[in-house]
Amino acid sequence: MRVLVTGGSGFVGQRLCPALIAQGHEVLVVSRTPHKVRERLPRECDIRDSAQAFIDSPPDALVNLAGESIAAKRWSDSQKKRLTRSRIEMTEQLVSLCEQLGENGQPLPKVLISGSAMGYYGDQGDKRVTEDTSPHDEFAHRLCAEWEAAAKPIENMGVRLAILRIGLVLGAGGGTLQKMLPPFKLGLGGRFGDGRQFMPWIHRDDLVEAIMFLLNDASLSGAFNGSAPHPVTNAEFTRTLARQLRRPAVLPVPACVLKAGLGEMSQLLLTGADMRPERLEAAGFRFQYPTLEKALAAILSPERSA
Ligand SMILES: NC(=O)c1ccc[n+]([C@@H]2O[C@H](COP(=O)([O-])OP(=O)(O)OC[C@H]3O[C@@H](n4cnc5c(N)ncnc54)[C@H](OP(=O)(O)O)[C@@H]3O)[C@@H](O)[C@H]2O)c1
Repeated sequence: MRVLVTGGSGFVGQRLCPALIAQGHEVLVVSRTPHKVRERLPRECDIRDSAQAFIDSPPDALVNLAGESIAAKRWSDSQKKRLTRSRIEMTEQLVSLCEQLGENGQPLPKVLISGSAMGYYGDQGDKRVTEDTSPHDEFAHRLCAEWEAAAKPIENMGVRLAILRIGLVLGAGGGTLQKMLPPFKLGLGGRFGDGRQFMPWIHRDDLVEAIMFLLNDASLSGAFNGSAPHPVTNAEFTRTLARQLRRPAVLPVPACVLKAGLGEMSQLLLTGADMRPERLEAAGFRFQYPTLEKALAAILSPERSA
């Protein structure tokens, strides 16, 4: 297949693109700065600066991962707009590409796997959350809902749409874990607030496999929770990480400190959802890293670069 990936230069994309190539697919990447991301991706990737730039090589499948990092900056009004716009504009580019292909009488892609996040559900306390759970209305929910809605028009063109509500992605050399490691390695780690908030997570290799699974099974559409079957609370995450690093983690960060320092963005650390991958599991997807213990052991092992 010829697979077009937006955000292919990112933490997930850098693992997905080589995996697609290893399976014999041709990979097209949309990046704002193709020359800058060239060395992050396999040389076989064709990298261009917009989806429309691929009108001459119609893709068979689309994977939509681009977006301003949710934790990059405090959520000022302008940053909230940037977070939303970065996702919606890229998603709209994919919809326009399909419209243009249709108008030209060129073949349309068969499927779009479009990103979303656990934030879709908002703060759910300790309630068990599946794809059917009603969301809590807050900024993270509205961001994800608008991102998901932007992809919807593609279904009217006969393109299968699968939306992946991704949990915290764990892998070596990047993502949130990379930022957490220095204090934990110094024994200065600790839970956030009371630590009871859920942190749905997924090993990066399982996420890549889930994307491939959704690409390949033509019967799967709609929303899928992209997180491991055993989510943990923040306190359990803290204990497990500290145990793996053989360091203490006894310095909790009080909620009021996080709220004062991060403003509304502190919701990312202080609230969550006990999100379960019900639809992926029902479809027969098997996680290589179902537990945090196993995922962190693989990621932190010096011989591995998971
Ligand atoms: N990593 C996680 O823990 C996690 C959790 C839940 C959901 N997700 C979602 O899954 C997707 C992939 O995650 P990731 O960790 O691989 O993301 P990432 O590394 O932060 O970013 C992916 C790519 O998005 C593009 N991008 C960044 N800012 C942008 C902007 N302002 N406008 C347009 N494009 C922009 C960049 O590509 P170029 O610089 O090449 O243009 C970047 O490489 C993201 O949309 C993210 O929101 C991730």
